[in-house]
Amino acid sequence: MIRLKESIRVDRPIGDVFRYAADFENVEQWDPGVTESRKVSSGPVREGTEYRVVAKSGPSRIPMRYVVTDYSPPNRVVLEGEGKRIRAIDSITFEQEGSGTKITYEADLSFSGLLGSAEPMMRGTLDRVGKKAVEGLRSALNEDRKTPRSRVRNMVEDRSILPGVLGFSRFGYQRRKASWAPVTVSLEGRTVVVTGATSGLGRAAALGLARKGARVILVGRDRQKTEATGLEIAHETGNPEIGMQTADLALMEDVRRLAENLLAEESNIHVLINNAGALYPERGLTSEGIEKTLALDLLSPFLLTNLMIPLLQASKPSRIVNVSSGGMYTQRIRVEDLQFERGRYDGSVAYARAKRGLVILTEKWAADLKDEGVVVHSMHPGWADTPGVLSSLPTFHRVTKKILRTPEEGADTIVWLAASEEAAGSTGQFWLDRQPHTTHVFPGTRASEDERARLWTQLADLSGWSAEA
Ligand SMILES: NC(=O)c1ccc[n+]([C@@H]2O[C@H](COP(=O)([O-])OP(=O)(O)OC[C@H]3O[C@@H](n4cnc5c(N)ncnc54)[C@H](OP(=O)(O)O)[C@@H]3O)[C@@H](O)[C@H]2O)c1
Repeated sequence: MIRLKESIRVDRPIGDVFRYAADFENVEQWDPGVTESRKVSSGPVREGTEYRVVAKSGPSRIPMRYVVTDYSPPNRVVLEGEGKRIRAIDSITFEQEGSGTKITYEADLSFSGLLGSAEPMMRGTLDRVGKKAVEGLRSALNEDRKTPRSRVRNMVEDRSILPGVLGFSRFGYQRRKASWAPVTVSLEGRTVVVTGATSGLGRAAALGLARKGARVILVGRDRQKTEATGLEIAHETGNPEIGMQTADLALMEDVRRLAENLLAEESNIHVLINNAGALYPERGLTSEGIEKTLALDLLSPFLLTNLMIPLLQASKPSRIVNVSSGGMYTQRIRVEDLQFERGRYDGSVAYARAKRGLVILTEKWAADLKDEGVVVHSMHPGWADTPGVLSSLPTFHRVTKKILRTPEEGADTIVWLAASEEAAGSTGQFWLDRQPHTTHVFPGTRASEDERARLWTQLADLSGWSAEA
Protein backbone atom coordinates (compact mmCIF):
# COMPACT_ATOMS: atom_id res chain seq x y z
CA MET A 1 0.00 0.00 0.00
CA ILE A 2 1.21 3.53 -0.74
CA ARG A 3 0.18 6.33 1.61
CA LEU A 4 0.22 9.93 0.43
CA LYS A 5 -0.23 12.82 2.84
CA GLU A 6 -0.26 16.54 2.09
CA SER A 7 -1.46 19.61 4.00
CA ILE A 8 -2.34 23.09 2.80
CA ARG A 9 -3.89 26.21 4.29
CA VAL A 10 -6.39 28.45 2.52
CA ASP A 11 -7.77 31.81 3.58
CA ARG A 12 -11.41 30.78 3.45
CA PRO A 13 -13.91 29.87 6.19
CA ILE A 14 -14.10 26.18 7.01
CA GLY A 15 -17.79 25.91 6.00
CA ASP A 16 -17.13 27.16 2.44
CA VAL A 17 -14.07 24.96 2.09
CA PHE A 18 -15.88 21.87 3.29
CA ARG A 19 -18.90 22.45 1.03
CA TYR A 20 -16.65 22.59 -2.03
CA ALA A 21 -13.93 20.04 -1.28
CA ALA A 22 -16.17 17.39 0.32
CA ASP A 23 -18.28 17.12 -2.83
CA PHE A 24 -16.22 14.82 -5.04
CA GLU A 25 -18.17 15.98 -8.10
CA ASN A 26 -15.85 19.01 -7.97
CA VAL A 27 -12.70 16.90 -7.99
CA GLU A 28 -12.35 17.13 -11.79
CA GLN A 29 -11.99 20.92 -11.36
CA TRP A 30 -8.93 20.70 -9.12
CA ASP A 31 -7.21 17.31 -9.47
CA PRO A 32 -5.29 17.12 -12.76
CA GLY A 33 -5.25 13.31 -12.34
CA VAL A 34 -9.06 13.16 -12.81
CA THR A 35 -10.77 13.71 -16.16
CA GLU A 36 -14.36 13.21 -15.06
CA SER A 37 -16.32 13.00 -11.85
CA ARG A 38 -20.06 12.59 -11.60
CA LYS A 39 -22.36 12.04 -8.64
CA VAL A 40 -24.46 9.01 -9.57
CA SER A 41 -26.63 8.63 -6.46
CA SER A 42 -29.49 11.00 -5.67
CA GLY A 43 -29.87 13.29 -2.65
CA PRO A 44 -27.38 15.57 -0.93
CA VAL A 45 -23.80 14.46 -0.26
CA ARG A 46 -23.81 12.12 2.75
CA GLU A 47 -22.56 8.69 3.79
CA GLY A 48 -23.36 6.31 0.92
CA THR A 49 -23.18 8.97 -1.84
CA GLU A 50 -21.66 7.41 -4.95
CA TYR A 51 -19.50 8.97 -7.65
CA ARG A 52 -18.22 7.71 -10.97
CA VAL A 53 -14.67 9.02 -11.36
CA VAL A 54 -12.34 8.60 -14.32
CA ALA A 55 -8.69 8.77 -13.24
CA LYS A 56 -5.86 9.49 -15.64
CA SER A 57 -2.63 7.54 -15.77
CA GLY A 58 -0.53 8.59 -18.77
CA PRO A 59 -2.66 7.87 -21.84
CA SER A 60 -4.88 5.38 -19.94
CA ARG A 61 -8.23 6.21 -18.36
CA ILE A 62 -9.23 4.26 -15.26
CA PRO A 63 -12.94 4.30 -14.37
CA MET A 64 -13.52 4.11 -10.61
CA ARG A 65 -16.51 4.02 -8.31
CA TYR A 66 -16.17 6.08 -5.14
CA VAL A 67 -18.47 5.90 -2.11
CA VAL A 68 -18.54 8.32 0.82
CA THR A 69 -17.94 6.28 3.99
CA ASP A 70 -17.62 9.09 6.54
CA TYR A 71 -19.28 12.50 6.17
CA SER A 72 -18.77 14.74 9.21
CA PRO A 73 -19.23 18.41 8.24
CA PRO A 74 -17.24 20.59 8.49
CA ASN A 75 -14.30 18.48 9.66
CA ARG A 76 -13.93 15.27 7.73
CA VAL A 77 -14.92 13.34 4.65
CA VAL A 78 -13.70 9.85 3.71
CA LEU A 79 -14.28 8.15 0.36
CA GLU A 80 -13.43 4.64 -0.71
CA GLY A 81 -12.70 4.05 -4.38
CA GLU A 82 -12.40 0.94 -6.46
CA GLY A 83 -11.33 0.38 -10.06
CA LYS A 84 -9.72 -2.41 -12.05
CA ARG A 85 -6.69 -3.51 -9.95
CA ILE A 86 -6.77 -0.37 -7.81
CA ARG A 87 -8.31 0.51 -4.46
CA ALA A 88 -8.14 3.90 -2.78
CA ILE A 89 -9.17 5.39 0.53
CA ASP A 90 -9.16 9.20 0.36
CA SER A 91 -9.63 11.10 3.57
CA ILE A 92 -9.77 14.89 3.81
CA THR A 93 -9.76 16.66 7.17
CA PHE A 94 -10.54 20.34 7.70
CA GLU A 95 -9.43 22.43 10.72
CA GLN A 96 -10.24 26.07 11.41
CA GLU A 97 -6.99 28.07 11.65
CA GLY A 98 -7.69 31.71 12.47
CA SER A 99 -9.83 33.04 9.65
CA GLY A 100 -8.63 30.27 7.33
CA THR A 101 -8.74 26.50 7.05
CA LYS A 102 -6.07 23.83 7.18
CA ILE A 103 -6.80 20.93 4.82
CA THR A 104 -5.04 17.59 5.19
CA TYR A 105 -5.42 15.15 2.33
CA GLU A 106 -4.47 11.51 2.83
CA ALA A 107 -4.76 8.77 0.23
CA ASP A 108 -4.06 5.07 0.77
CA LEU A 109 -3.61 3.35 -2.57
CA SER A 110 -3.31 -0.41 -3.14
CA PHE A 111 -2.77 -2.18 -6.41
CA SER A 112 -3.18 -5.78 -7.51
CA GLY A 113 -1.95 -7.89 -10.44
CA LEU A 114 0.89 -6.43 -12.52
CA LEU A 115 0.35 -3.03 -10.99
CA GLY A 116 0.81 -4.60 -7.56
CA SER A 117 4.30 -5.86 -8.43
CA ALA A 118 5.22 -2.41 -9.82
CA GLU A 119 4.00 -0.66 -6.62
CA PRO A 120 7.46 0.15 -5.20
CA MET A 121 8.43 1.94 -8.46
CA MET A 122 5.25 4.00 -8.48
CA ARG A 123 5.78 5.80 -5.20
CA GLY A 124 7.68 8.81 -6.66
CA THR A 125 5.15 9.33 -9.45
CA LEU A 126 2.19 9.05 -7.11
CA ASP A 127 3.80 11.49 -4.69
CA ARG A 128 4.01 14.03 -7.50
CA VAL A 129 0.40 13.34 -8.53
CA GLY A 130 -0.75 13.82 -4.91
CA LYS A 131 1.17 17.11 -4.58
CA LYS A 132 -0.33 18.41 -7.84
CA ALA A 133 -3.83 17.49 -6.72
CA VAL A 134 -3.51 19.33 -3.41
CA GLU A 135 -1.94 22.32 -5.17
CA GLY A 136 -4.93 22.24 -7.54
CA LEU A 137 -7.29 22.31 -4.55
CA ARG A 138 -5.45 25.28 -3.04
CA SER A 139 -5.53 27.14 -6.35
CA ALA A 140 -9.25 26.35 -6.82
CA LEU A 141 -10.16 27.60 -3.33
CA ASN A 142 -8.06 30.74 -3.79
CA GLU A 143 -9.86 31.21 -7.12
CA ASP A 144 -6.55 32.36 -8.56
CA ARG A 145 -7.17 30.83 -12.00
CA LYS A 146 -9.33 32.80 -14.38
CA THR A 147 -11.23 31.47 -17.37
CA PRO A 148 -9.20 32.63 -20.38
CA ARG A 149 -11.10 35.10 -22.56
CA SER A 150 -10.68 34.42 -26.25
CA ARG A 151 -12.46 37.43 -27.76
CA VAL A 152 -10.96 37.06 -31.21
CA ARG A 153 -11.67 33.34 -31.39
CA ASN A 154 -15.25 33.87 -30.15
CA MET A 155 -15.76 36.62 -32.69
CA VAL A 156 -14.50 34.48 -35.57
CA GLU A 157 -16.59 31.51 -34.43
CA ASP A 158 -19.75 33.59 -33.93
CA ARG A 159 -19.42 34.94 -37.46
CA SER A 160 -18.76 31.64 -39.21
CA ILE A 161 -21.90 29.59 -39.65
CA LEU A 162 -20.74 26.00 -39.07
CA PRO A 163 -18.37 26.48 -36.09
CA GLY A 164 -20.82 29.01 -34.65
CA VAL A 165 -23.73 26.62 -34.84
CA LEU A 166 -21.73 23.61 -33.65
CA GLY A 167 -20.75 25.75 -30.66
CA PHE A 168 -24.45 25.72 -29.67
CA SER A 169 -24.39 21.91 -29.41
CA ARG A 170 -23.07 19.77 -26.60
CA PHE A 171 -19.74 19.59 -28.46
CA GLY A 172 -19.30 23.35 -28.03
CA TYR A 173 -20.01 22.98 -24.33
CA GLN A 174 -17.56 20.08 -23.92
CA ARG A 175 -14.79 21.90 -25.75
CA ARG A 176 -15.11 25.19 -23.87
CA LYS A 177 -15.55 23.50 -20.50
CA ALA A 178 -11.95 22.25 -20.60
CA SER A 179 -10.60 25.78 -20.00
CA TRP A 180 -12.94 26.88 -17.21
CA ALA A 181 -11.59 27.98 -13.87
CA PRO A 182 -13.21 26.33 -10.82
CA VAL A 183 -16.05 28.17 -9.06
CA THR A 184 -15.84 27.45 -5.34
CA VAL A 185 -18.02 30.24 -3.97
CA SER A 186 -20.66 29.45 -1.37
CA LEU A 187 -23.98 31.23 -1.89
CA GLU A 188 -25.15 30.80 1.69
CA GLY A 189 -26.97 33.97 2.73
CA ARG A 190 -27.74 34.99 -0.89
CA THR A 191 -31.28 34.99 -2.27
CA VAL A 192 -31.92 34.19 -5.92
CA VAL A 193 -35.23 34.42 -7.79
CA VAL A 194 -35.58 32.11 -10.81
CA THR A 195 -38.56 32.46 -13.15
CA GLY A 196 -39.64 29.42 -15.14
CA ALA A 197 -38.07 27.21 -12.48
CA THR A 198 -40.41 24.25 -12.97
CA SER A 199 -38.84 22.83 -16.12
CA GLY A 200 -35.76 22.64 -18.34
CA LEU A 201 -33.08 25.26 -17.84
CA GLY A 202 -34.78 27.14 -15.00
CA ARG A 203 -35.13 23.98 -12.94
CA ALA A 204 -31.50 23.02 -13.62
CA ALA A 205 -30.31 26.53 -12.68
CA ALA A 206 -32.38 26.54 -9.48
CA LEU A 207 -30.93 23.15 -8.55
CA GLY A 208 -27.36 24.28 -9.26
CA LEU A 209 -27.81 27.43 -7.16
CA ALA A 210 -29.48 25.55 -4.29
CA ARG A 211 -26.53 23.14 -4.36
CA LYS A 212 -24.23 26.12 -3.80
CA GLY A 213 -26.23 27.03 -0.71
CA ALA A 214 -28.39 29.92 -2.02
CA ARG A 215 -31.91 30.57 -0.84
CA VAL A 216 -33.73 30.01 -4.12
CA ILE A 217 -37.22 31.33 -4.85
CA LEU A 218 -38.85 29.35 -7.62
CA VAL A 219 -41.38 31.18 -9.75
CA GLY A 220 -43.81 28.88 -11.57
CA ARG A 221 -47.25 29.31 -13.10
CA ASP A 222 -48.76 26.15 -11.66
CA ARG A 223 -48.86 25.90 -7.87
CA GLN A 224 -48.74 22.09 -7.70
CA LYS A 225 -45.87 21.81 -10.18
CA THR A 226 -43.93 24.57 -8.42
CA GLU A 227 -44.38 22.90 -5.03
CA ALA A 228 -43.34 19.51 -6.43
CA THR A 229 -40.21 21.08 -8.00
CA GLY A 230 -39.39 22.80 -4.70
CA LEU A 231 -39.63 19.51 -2.81
CA GLU A 232 -37.47 17.72 -5.37
CA ILE A 233 -34.78 20.42 -5.22
CA ALA A 234 -34.78 20.47 -1.42
CA HIS A 235 -34.54 16.68 -1.36
CA GLU A 236 -31.79 16.51 -3.98
CA THR A 237 -29.60 19.24 -2.46
CA GLY A 238 -30.44 18.99 1.24
CA ASN A 239 -31.00 22.77 1.11
CA PRO A 240 -34.23 23.63 2.98
CA GLU A 241 -34.14 27.28 1.85
CA ILE A 242 -36.41 26.90 -1.16
CA GLY A 243 -39.16 29.50 -1.55
CA MET A 244 -42.02 29.48 -4.04
CA GLN A 245 -44.19 32.01 -5.86
CA THR A 246 -46.77 31.47 -8.57
CA ALA A 247 -47.60 33.82 -11.42
CA ASP A 248 -48.66 33.58 -15.04
CA LEU A 249 -45.89 35.77 -16.32
CA ALA A 250 -47.65 36.44 -19.63
CA LEU A 251 -50.12 38.55 -17.59
CA MET A 252 -48.83 41.90 -16.34
CA GLU A 253 -51.33 41.85 -13.51
CA ASP A 254 -49.69 38.64 -12.26
CA VAL A 255 -46.18 40.05 -12.75
CA ARG A 256 -47.16 43.05 -10.62
CA ARG A 257 -48.63 40.80 -7.90
CA LEU A 258 -45.48 38.65 -7.95
CA ALA A 259 -43.28 41.72 -7.50
CA GLU A 260 -45.49 42.95 -4.63
CA ASN A 261 -45.18 39.57 -2.90
CA LEU A 262 -41.41 39.45 -3.35
CA LEU A 263 -40.99 43.03 -2.08
CA ALA A 264 -43.20 42.31 0.93
CA GLU A 265 -41.72 38.92 1.83
CA GLU A 266 -38.01 39.19 1.05
CA SER A 267 -35.64 41.52 2.87
CA ASN A 268 -33.00 40.98 0.16
CA ILE A 269 -32.83 39.73 -3.39
CA HIS A 270 -29.29 39.35 -4.68
CA VAL A 271 -29.99 37.75 -8.06
CA LEU A 272 -32.97 37.91 -10.40
CA ILE A 273 -32.93 35.36 -13.21
CA ASN A 274 -35.43 36.09 -15.98
CA ASN A 275 -35.60 32.64 -17.51
CA ALA A 276 -39.30 31.87 -18.19
CA GLY A 277 -39.98 31.91 -21.89
CA ALA A 278 -41.70 30.12 -24.73
CA LEU A 279 -41.91 29.96 -28.51
CA TYR A 280 -45.54 30.01 -29.68
CA PRO A 281 -46.02 28.47 -33.16
CA GLU A 282 -49.40 30.25 -33.53
CA ARG A 283 -50.07 33.92 -32.92
CA GLY A 284 -52.40 34.60 -30.00
CA LEU A 285 -53.30 37.28 -27.51
CA THR A 286 -53.26 37.08 -23.73
CA SER A 287 -56.43 37.90 -21.80
CA GLU A 288 -54.90 41.37 -21.42
CA GLY A 289 -54.86 41.71 -25.24
CA ILE A 290 -51.09 41.52 -25.75
CA GLU A 291 -49.43 39.22 -28.29
CA LYS A 292 -48.25 36.20 -26.27
CA THR A 293 -44.58 36.04 -27.32
CA LEU A 294 -44.09 39.72 -26.61
CA ALA A 295 -45.94 39.41 -23.30
CA LEU A 296 -43.98 36.46 -21.89
CA ASP A 297 -40.55 36.82 -23.48
CA LEU A 298 -40.04 40.58 -23.32
CA LEU A 299 -42.72 42.59 -21.53
CA SER A 300 -42.73 40.35 -18.47
CA PRO A 301 -38.96 40.57 -17.78
CA PHE A 302 -39.17 44.32 -18.52
CA LEU A 303 -41.85 44.87 -15.88
CA LEU A 304 -40.59 42.39 -13.28
CA THR A 305 -37.03 43.70 -13.46
CA ASN A 306 -38.05 47.35 -13.24
CA LEU A 307 -40.25 46.58 -10.23
CA MET A 308 -37.46 44.61 -8.53
CA ILE A 309 -34.59 47.05 -9.18
CA PRO A 310 -35.08 49.05 -5.94
CA LEU A 311 -34.70 45.86 -3.86
CA LEU A 312 -31.78 44.63 -5.98
CA GLN A 313 -30.09 48.00 -5.41
CA ALA A 314 -30.76 47.80 -1.69
CA SER A 315 -29.28 44.27 -1.64
CA LYS A 316 -26.11 45.19 -3.56
CA PRO A 317 -23.85 43.71 -4.80
CA SER A 318 -26.53 42.08 -6.91
CA ARG A 319 -27.10 40.71 -10.37
CA ILE A 320 -29.71 40.33 -13.08
CA VAL A 321 -29.40 37.46 -15.55
CA ASN A 322 -31.57 37.51 -18.68
CA VAL A 323 -31.98 34.27 -20.60
CA SER A 324 -32.07 35.14 -24.28
CA SER A 325 -31.46 32.85 -27.25
CA GLY A 326 -28.94 32.38 -30.07
CA GLY A 327 -32.01 32.74 -32.33
CA MET A 328 -31.90 36.49 -31.65
CA TYR A 329 -28.88 36.75 -33.97
CA THR A 330 -31.24 36.39 -36.93
CA GLN A 331 -33.52 39.35 -36.11
CA ARG A 332 -33.54 43.06 -35.40
CA ILE A 333 -36.09 44.61 -33.06
CA ARG A 334 -39.22 45.90 -34.83
CA VAL A 335 -40.34 48.79 -32.67
CA GLU A 336 -42.99 49.69 -35.24
CA ASP A 337 -44.58 46.21 -34.96
CA LEU A 338 -43.81 44.77 -31.50
CA GLN A 339 -47.00 42.70 -31.50
CA PHE A 340 -46.41 41.16 -34.94
CA GLU A 341 -49.58 42.59 -36.48
CA ARG A 342 -48.01 43.04 -39.92
CA GLY A 343 -47.16 40.21 -42.32
CA ARG A 344 -47.61 36.50 -41.69
CA TYR A 345 -46.84 35.52 -38.09
CA ASP A 346 -43.86 33.21 -37.66
CA GLY A 347 -43.29 31.89 -34.12
CA SER A 348 -39.51 31.59 -34.48
CA VAL A 349 -39.25 35.14 -35.80
CA ALA A 350 -41.50 36.57 -33.07
CA TYR A 351 -39.43 34.70 -30.47
CA ALA A 352 -36.11 35.88 -31.93
CA ARG A 353 -37.31 39.50 -31.99
CA ALA A 354 -38.39 39.33 -28.35
CA LYS A 355 -35.06 37.75 -27.35
CA ARG A 356 -33.26 40.50 -29.31
CA GLY A 357 -35.29 43.01 -27.30
CA LEU A 358 -34.16 41.37 -24.06
CA VAL A 359 -30.52 41.88 -25.04
CA ILE A 360 -31.24 45.56 -25.75
CA LEU A 361 -32.90 45.92 -22.33
CA THR A 362 -29.90 44.20 -20.72
CA GLU A 363 -27.57 46.81 -22.20
CA LYS A 364 -29.82 49.65 -21.04
CA TRP A 365 -30.15 48.34 -17.47
CA ALA A 366 -26.40 47.64 -17.35
CA ALA A 367 -25.63 51.26 -18.32
CA ASP A 368 -28.26 52.71 -15.93
CA LEU A 369 -27.10 50.57 -12.98
CA LYS A 370 -23.35 50.75 -13.65
CA ASP A 371 -22.63 52.67 -10.45
CA GLU A 372 -25.39 51.11 -8.37
CA GLY A 373 -23.77 47.77 -7.48
CA VAL A 374 -26.06 45.82 -9.83
CA VAL A 375 -24.52 43.97 -12.79
CA VAL A 376 -26.78 42.89 -15.64
CA HIS A 377 -25.98 40.18 -18.16
CA SER A 378 -27.80 38.30 -20.88
CA MET A 379 -26.85 34.85 -22.09
CA HIS A 380 -27.87 32.13 -24.44
CA PRO A 381 -27.82 28.51 -23.43
CA GLY A 382 -26.95 26.97 -26.80
CA TRP A 383 -29.34 24.16 -27.74
CA ALA A 384 -30.52 22.16 -24.77
CA ASP A 385 -32.89 19.21 -24.63
CA THR A 386 -35.78 20.60 -22.60
CA PRO A 387 -39.57 20.06 -22.57
CA GLY A 388 -39.88 23.53 -24.15
CA VAL A 389 -37.78 22.62 -27.19
CA LEU A 390 -39.55 19.27 -27.57
CA SER A 391 -43.03 20.82 -27.56
CA SER A 392 -42.40 23.98 -29.60
CA LEU A 393 -39.81 22.68 -32.10
CA PRO A 394 -40.51 18.92 -32.47
CA THR A 395 -38.78 18.55 -35.86
CA PHE A 396 -35.70 20.46 -34.71
CA HIS A 397 -35.67 18.31 -31.58
CA ARG A 398 -35.86 15.07 -33.57
CA VAL A 399 -33.08 16.07 -35.97
CA THR A 400 -30.68 17.48 -33.36
CA LYS A 401 -31.49 15.22 -30.40
CA LYS A 402 -28.08 13.54 -30.40
CA ILE A 403 -26.16 16.81 -30.22
CA LEU A 404 -28.37 18.71 -27.78
CA ARG A 405 -26.98 19.69 -24.41
CA THR A 406 -28.46 18.44 -21.18
CA PRO A 407 -30.53 21.04 -19.26
CA GLU A 408 -27.64 21.26 -16.74
CA GLU A 409 -25.17 22.05 -19.53
CA GLY A 410 -27.54 24.66 -20.98
CA ALA A 411 -28.03 26.19 -17.52
CA ASP A 412 -24.34 26.19 -16.58
CA THR A 413 -23.74 29.79 -17.71
CA ILE A 414 -26.90 30.97 -15.88
CA VAL A 415 -25.50 29.52 -12.64
CA TRP A 416 -22.04 30.89 -13.38
CA LEU A 417 -23.38 34.41 -14.09
CA ALA A 418 -25.38 34.28 -10.85
CA ALA A 419 -22.56 32.94 -8.70
CA SER A 420 -19.01 33.48 -9.88
CA GLU A 421 -16.71 36.33 -8.88
CA GLU A 422 -15.56 36.55 -12.50
CA ALA A 423 -19.07 37.36 -13.75
CA ALA A 424 -19.37 40.25 -11.29
CA GLY A 425 -16.37 41.92 -12.93
CA SER A 426 -18.25 43.28 -15.95
CA THR A 427 -21.77 44.23 -16.94
CA GLY A 428 -24.00 44.38 -20.01
CA GLN A 429 -22.45 41.46 -21.91
CA PHE A 430 -23.99 38.53 -23.80
CA TRP A 431 -22.62 35.13 -22.74
CA LEU A 432 -22.40 31.56 -23.96
CA ASP A 433 -20.39 28.95 -22.08
CA ARG A 434 -18.86 31.47 -19.64
CA GLN A 435 -17.48 33.57 -22.53
CA PRO A 436 -18.75 36.95 -23.72
CA HIS A 437 -19.96 36.85 -27.32
CA THR A 438 -20.87 39.35 -29.97
CA THR A 439 -24.53 40.43 -30.14
CA HIS A 440 -24.54 40.93 -33.92
CA VAL A 441 -23.57 38.41 -36.56
CA PHE A 442 -25.72 39.39 -39.55
CA PRO A 443 -25.97 42.82 -41.17
CA GLY A 444 -28.96 45.00 -40.35
CA THR A 445 -29.70 43.72 -36.84
CA ARG A 446 -28.49 46.80 -34.93
CA ALA A 447 -31.09 49.15 -33.45
CA SER A 448 -30.54 52.91 -33.55
CA GLU A 449 -30.54 54.97 -30.35
CA ASP A 450 -33.98 56.21 -31.35
CA GLU A 451 -35.30 52.64 -31.76
CA ARG A 452 -33.91 51.64 -28.39
CA ALA A 453 -35.56 54.62 -26.74
CA ARG A 454 -38.88 53.87 -28.48
CA LEU A 455 -38.68 50.22 -27.42
CA TRP A 456 -38.37 51.31 -23.79
CA THR A 457 -41.25 53.78 -24.04
CA GLN A 458 -43.55 51.27 -25.73
CA LEU A 459 -42.82 48.53 -23.20
CA ALA A 460 -43.47 51.03 -20.40
CA ASP A 461 -46.80 52.02 -22.01
CA LEU A 462 -47.88 48.42 -22.66
CA SER A 463 -47.01 47.24 -19.15
CA GLY A 464 -48.23 50.37 -17.40
CA TRP A 465 -44.84 50.83 -15.73
CA SER A 466 -43.51 54.26 -14.97
CA ALA A 467 -40.19 55.13 -13.34
CA GLU A 468 -41.87 57.71 -11.09
CA ALA A 469 -44.49 55.32 -9.68
N1 LIG B 1 -33.65 24.93 -24.44
C1 LIG B 1 -32.98 25.64 -25.32
O1 LIG B 1 -32.25 25.09 -26.17
C2 LIG B 1 -33.10 27.12 -25.32
C3 LIG B 1 -32.37 27.83 -26.28
C4 LIG B 1 -32.41 29.21 -26.27
C5 LIG B 1 -33.13 29.87 -25.29
N2 LIG B 1 -33.85 29.16 -24.37
C6 LIG B 1 -34.59 29.93 -23.37
O2 LIG B 1 -34.37 29.35 -22.11
C7 LIG B 1 -35.50 29.60 -21.26
C8 LIG B 1 -35.96 28.30 -20.65
O3 LIG B 1 -36.42 27.46 -21.69
P1 LIG B 1 -36.49 25.86 -21.59
O4 LIG B 1 -35.89 25.36 -22.84
O5 LIG B 1 -35.98 25.42 -20.27
O6 LIG B 1 -38.07 25.67 -21.73
P2 LIG B 1 -39.14 24.91 -20.81
O7 LIG B 1 -38.63 23.56 -20.47
O8 LIG B 1 -40.43 25.00 -21.54
O9 LIG B 1 -39.21 25.81 -19.52
C9 LIG B 1 -39.83 27.08 -19.59
C10 LIG B 1 -40.23 27.52 -18.22
O10 LIG B 1 -41.00 28.73 -18.34
C11 LIG B 1 -42.26 28.54 -17.69
N3 LIG B 1 -43.33 29.29 -18.33
C12 LIG B 1 -43.81 29.17 -19.60
N4 LIG B 1 -44.84 30.00 -19.77
C13 LIG B 1 -45.04 30.65 -18.59
C14 LIG B 1 -45.96 31.62 -18.14
N5 LIG B 1 -46.91 32.09 -18.94
N6 LIG B 1 -45.87 32.06 -16.87
C15 LIG B 1 -44.92 31.57 -16.04
N7 LIG B 1 -44.02 30.65 -16.41
C16 LIG B 1 -44.08 30.20 -17.68
C17 LIG B 1 -42.52 27.05 -17.81
O11 LIG B 1 -43.51 26.64 -16.87
P3 LIG B 1 -44.21 25.18 -16.97
O12 LIG B 1 -43.24 24.23 -16.32
O13 LIG B 1 -45.46 25.38 -16.20
O14 LIG B 1 -44.40 24.88 -18.43
C18 LIG B 1 -41.14 26.51 -17.50
O15 LIG B 1 -40.87 26.55 -16.13
C19 LIG B 1 -36.54 30.27 -22.13
O16 LIG B 1 -36.49 31.67 -21.95
C20 LIG B 1 -36.09 29.92 -23.54
O17 LIG B 1 -36.52 30.87 -24.47
C21 LIG B 1 -33.84 27.81 -24.37
